[in-house]
Amino acid sequence: MSGEVDTPARIFKDAMIMIYHVFRALTASVYRFFSGGELKSIKGDIVLITGSGGEIGRQLSLVLSKLGGILVLWDINTARNEETAALIKANGGECYSFTVDVRYVYIYVIHVFTYAESVHM
Ligand SMILES: NC(=O)c1ccc[n+]([C@@H]2O[C@H](COP(=O)([O-])OP(=O)(O)OC[C@H]3O[C@@H](n4cnc5c(N)ncnc54)[C@H](O)[C@@H]3O)[C@@H](O)[C@H]2O)c1
Repeated sequence: MSGEVDTPARIFKDAMIMIYHVFRALTASVYRFFSGGELKSIKGDIVLITGSGGEIGRQLSLVLSKLGGILVLWDINTARNEETAALIKANGGECYSFTVDVRYVYIYVIHVFTYAESVHM
């Protein structure tokens, strides 16, 4: 970043912060594993996936739909996005697909959240 110098003290501080977060995440993970804690349910939650027409986005959308999420699918590629939507619906899931260029996401945010609220009602 401009204006910042990587001094040994700063590198040491960043390394300590990183070690702290890794240790915290590992501890929480081990605790959850042994305590058998339940995962948060996403049933009925609205889940926004960007790039939902792509390989990762599609698989993620299908899995989260099977877990009960209501999917909002954003992709610039309408045809691919509609294929994902069709797969979700064929599996009994609920989803709403939009052709969106995330580079201009600010234009869509208001529309989507307004829409998402109406879906929740
Ligand atoms: N597939 C892998 O194994 C893998 C591994 C590591 C990282 N990645 C990265 O993860 C990301 C997704 O991977 P993938 O395999 O699903 O890629 P993909 O190309 O199959 O999917 C990307 C999707 O994003 C959409 N997209 C692109 N630009 C967009 C925009 N401006 N607005 C809205 N949608 C847009 C495309 O239309 C496409 O459907 C990529 O950045 C990829 O480099 C993938």
